[in-house]
Amino acid sequence: MPRTPALSIADRCILALDSALATVVGGGARTGRDYPAESANGALSEGERRHSAGLMRVNHAGEIAAQALYNGQALTARDAALRSHLYRAADEENDHLAWCERRLSELHSRPSRLAPVWYCGSLGIGALAGAIGDRWSLGFIAETENQVVAHLDGHFAALPESDTRSREIVHRMREDEARHAREALSAGGQKLPFPVQKLMQLTAKIMTSTAYYV
Ligand SMILES: [Fe+2]
Ligand SMILES: [Fe+2]
Repeated sequence: MPRTPALSIADRCILALDSALATVVGGGARTGRDYPAESANGALSEGERRHSAGLMRVNHAGEIAAQALYNGQALTARDAALRSHLYRAADEENDHLAWCERRLSELHSRPSRLAPVWYCGSLGIGALAGAIGDRWSLGFIAETENQVVAHLDGHFAALPESDTRSREIVHRMREDEARHAREALSAGGQKLPFPVQKLMQLTAKIMTSTAYYV
């Protein structure tokens, strides 16, 4: 279904369902960008491989959440231009999802087994943020993306130096997430109250510390 500005609520529900299936099973819409790690190389010990796989599984889970948040916000967004923007950003997040999934397979590992949980929980949070109002929804994006940038900085420091393939992916994702935050703010995003920021950090912490192992 084309994601035109005139989508009805029923159309948006179908798109959210389509995104849920594509995210959990694979094959959602992408922007056509190349795999950032294509030309990078580096040998890993068994311990490094396992640590990198844990970190990339966390990033993959974060991208599942990003799909659900953007689609949830698009579901309840009032402004058609904002909705188009959200769908476009979701396609970029889907690039990240595919890159993390490919890297996990290169590391002989797998995505989080709790993908449906991450998706459903985040879809609800995204739909709620969208329903509160477009400027709050944009503020929620900016805060989320800024927290993701900080998280990716932490992963960049934690990844083995020799895992240049994962590092290239994380670097490219960080650039995109920082731009997503800037775009949301310049589109009129409201700064979220401090307790909400803290609650978001706590929710993300639960997901990231679980997805490393499960
Ligand atoms: Fe992302
Ligand atoms: Fe993003």
